[in-house]
Amino acid sequence: KIYRIALLGGDGIGPEVIRAARRVLEALPLCWEWLEGEIGWGAYQRWGDPLPSETLTLIRQADATLFGAVTTPPDVPNYRSPVLRMRQELDLFANLRPCRSIPHPISRPDVHLLVVRENTEDLYVGRERLEENGETAVAEMVITRRASARIMRIACEQARQRRLPRVTLVHKANVLRQTSGLFRRVALEVGAEYPDLQVDEMLVDTCAMELIRAPQSFGVIVTTNLFGDILSDEASMLVGGLGLACSANIGEHTAVFEPVHGSAPALAGKNLANPLAAIGSAAMMLDYLGEDRWARCVELVIHRVIADRQVTPDLGGTLGTQDVAEAVIRYLQYV
Ligand code: NAI
Ligand code: MG
Repeated sequence: KIYRIALLGGDGIGPEVIRAARRVLEALPLCWEWLEGEIGWGAYQRWGDPLPSETLTLIRQADATLFGAVTTPPDVPNYRSPVLRMRQELDLFANLRPCRSIPHPISRPDVHLLVVRENTEDLYVGRERLEENGETAVAEMVITRRASARIMRIACEQARQRRLPRVTLVHKANVLRQTSGLFRRVALEVGAEYPDLQVDEMLVDTCAMELIRAPQSFGVIVTTNLFGDILSDEASMLVGGLGLACSANIGEHTAVFEPVHGSAPALAGKNLANPLAAIGSAAMMLDYLGEDRWARCVELVIHRVIADRQVTPDLGGTLGTQDVAEAVIRYLQYV
């Protein structure tokens, strides 16, 4: 089987880390066809659109997409983030952010959790307005039964696949009785269909504290868009932060895998960016494609290069971006 992968480097360090991830994928005994597309500020400057329709077509044609990062220009009126648009247009409803301890002093020990964030609704539907001559601003928080059910279902499926027996649904139903309340009710209903899992619930503020106090106690955390945005960033800082945090955006028809970090303009073109977040995202893509054996190998090797400090300066190493990719490829020969 030949896997067709859309490759969207984007801006800044995006193309560098995606190149590193591609090299790692090419070192595996699998067949790839790359569909390279443009996205971001560079694409806007060339084509007047940060997400050209050709790029959307590539994503739709591909089995999966690997995406780097984009730069948001400071003051271009009416500029719409291509990342949000991509998630909406392709209905990539689930954002998965795994957080696992790494063998490095910046990481807390024994953490193995997954944040599952609803990606399409909540306060992020963009229904904001000014009232009272601009003296009052109002945003609508939209929660639907359909989105709540499907995010809980994918959370429970992920819990089974990853052997994480605990699924914690996180909400604020004590205050947001209708919106968070609906999410809570539907998620508990769906959770009841998974008797092999331990489903429990937590208020979002408690969860923010517990993540710091006892991160080892969590398995899957499933929540609505805004809470998930915040908690997933918090969780990634427990285990090494931006240079390592990887993510998946999953839809019914396709999926987009991306490092959590942005385009880090100050590092661009200097061979300094840590590629492990992009390489970890490529490992998540391998899982999605059904190549879970190779996904586990890549994850194992990421841990080994960190343990041996074959890493970039952000993790205390002296290697460049592409040197880390080469180290990963070298270590892959021995697993
Ligand atoms: P950033 O993630 O680009 O950088 C934050 C800090 O982390 C910087 O100090 C940077 O040097 C460091 N860093 C990030 N990735 C790294 C890596 N792979 N290796 C080593 N160090 C790394 O976030 P920032 O600076 O807030 O935003 C820069 C640009 O990226 C902005 O235009 C922003 O809008 C965009 N952005 C794009 C995202 C995306 O494409 N999904 C996500 C976040 C920001
Ligand atoms: Mg990103």
